[in-house]
This record gives sequence, C-alpha cells and structure tokens, in this order.
Amino acid sequence: MSRAEMPPSSLDLREAVLVPLLAQNAVQKAELTLALNPDLPLNCQAVLPDPGGIPGRPAHPVLVSHTSLKAKPLNTDEGRALLLHAIAHIELNAIDLALDVVWRFHAMPENFYRDWVQIAQEEAKHFLLLQKHLVGMGYDYGCFPAHNSLWDMAERTKGDILARIGLVPRTMEARGLDASPGVKNKLISAGDLTAGRILDIILEDEIGHVAAGNRWYRHVCQERGLDPIATYRELIQQYDAPKLKSPYNLEARRLAGFDDEELRYLAANGL
Ligand SMILES: [Fe+2]
Ligand SMILES: [Fe+2]
Repeated sequence: MSRAEMPPSSLDLREAVLVPLLAQNAVQKAELTLALNPDLPLNCQAVLPDPGGIPGRPAHPVLVSHTSLKAKPLNTDEGRALLLHAIAHIELNAIDLALDVVWRFHAMPENFYRDWVQIAQEEAKHFLLLQKHLVGMGYDYGCFPAHNSLWDMAERTKGDILARIGLVPRTMEARGLDASPGVKNKLISAGDLTAGRILDIILEDEIGHVAAGNRWYRHVCQERGLDPIATYRELIQQYDAPKLKSPYNLEARRLAGFDDEELRYLAANGL
C-alpha cells in the first residue's frame, strides 16, 4: 500500500511529519504540525526516501541575504513588526528543522523522534502566537523580506545527525537563549507587553529544545566514542557555523544542560 492510500491513523510518525514539512502555507504548516498525533507508531530503522520539495515554503516572504535586512526604530509600529516578523520567520524555520530531523535520520532511539515532534509542535505554537500578534498590529507573516541562514545550516548538515544536532539546536537555538532577554526588554520598553509575554513563553520552551539538543548530542558522541567539547570545536570549523557572541545567557544555558566545563570553554573561547 502506498503512503497516499494509507488511512492517516495507520501512518508511521516519521512519515507523518512529511505532511506539515511539505506544506507551503505557513499558518497551515503550523496547524498541521499541531494536528500530528505524537503517539503514532514509528519505525526507527526505516530509511525514508527524500520526496523533494523540502521544506514547503510560501511565496512570501521573499528570501534575501541577511545583510540586506535593516532594522527600524522600535518606537514605531513598523519597527516592532519588523522585529516580530524576523522572530516569526525563525520559528517557521524551527518547525521545519524539527520535523526534518524526524524523517531524515534513522536508527536513533524512539524517544529521539518523539522529542523532536514535541519540539516541532512548540515551534508551531510560537509561530502562531507571533503571527496572530502581527495580524493584530495590521501586518502579517510574509509582508517583509526574510533571510534563509537557518535552513542553509540544515542543508549543510543533512548528511550527519551529529552535525545537525550539534549546530542547530545547541548552537543556533542556544543563540536564541542568549538574545532573548535583550529583545524582550526592547519590546517591553517600546510598550509591547504582549510581545514580552510571548517571548517569555518562547524562552521557557526553547530551554527545553536546547536541552534535548544537548542530550542527544551527547548520546551520539558517546555512541561514536567522541569527546563532546573537542568534537563541537571541530564541527564549528568544518561547517563554518556562526560564531557565538557574548553576553551569554548563562542561567538559561545551565538550565538547558550545558555543563560548567562547556560554559567555561564558551566564556574563554567565544565559541
Ligand atoms: Fe521556538
Ligand atoms: Fe526551538
């Protein structure tokens, strides 16, 4: 029986994530992600063929180089909307990134896949909170340009689960933990208390996402007999990952499972 002929309830969870991953409309992608049944059976060992067209994306926003995106003052509606749009775009990418891990990488433990479906559902919640707030301000997702650097990293790391987990959740999402307090303060100072509350929800969930990244990164390092810190340094160089910048949100990073040795290394080396 082909996938198209199967009733949805008999679908394997790793195959089911392809439905929202391929969806082009952003709101529909988020809603389809939330509608996934995380308790579906799953086959950890299956090697699933790439169906092409991953990720499904809307025609808007137009994707441009990140250096061509300019911020505007946050005391204007447009300035705040630009910032919230940029965060919504990150959340949409985060949905795709979490779903992509589930179908693409085989032979991980069952809990690995279930963790990433839960993460995708939290990213979908984040996207919809921001998108609805944008609509309330008279804007919408897609009305400003955006950049594609998150999905670029997904492309570069699609051949190795260790690189994907090392460089997406525990590098790029961890940067989000560092940036969050400053962004929240700016939005609150500009009088947008709703946005401040949304960022609180996001930060709390993101600590869990980075924690999952740390957990599974160490799991793969252990399986391969690799030292997590030395390997991380090599991954950063091999994949030309963006350098991390202080100030670090050490409290959130500690909650997300970075240990003292890693945080000392971070403070000393700026990686
Ligand atoms: Fe998120
Ligand atoms: Fe996340």
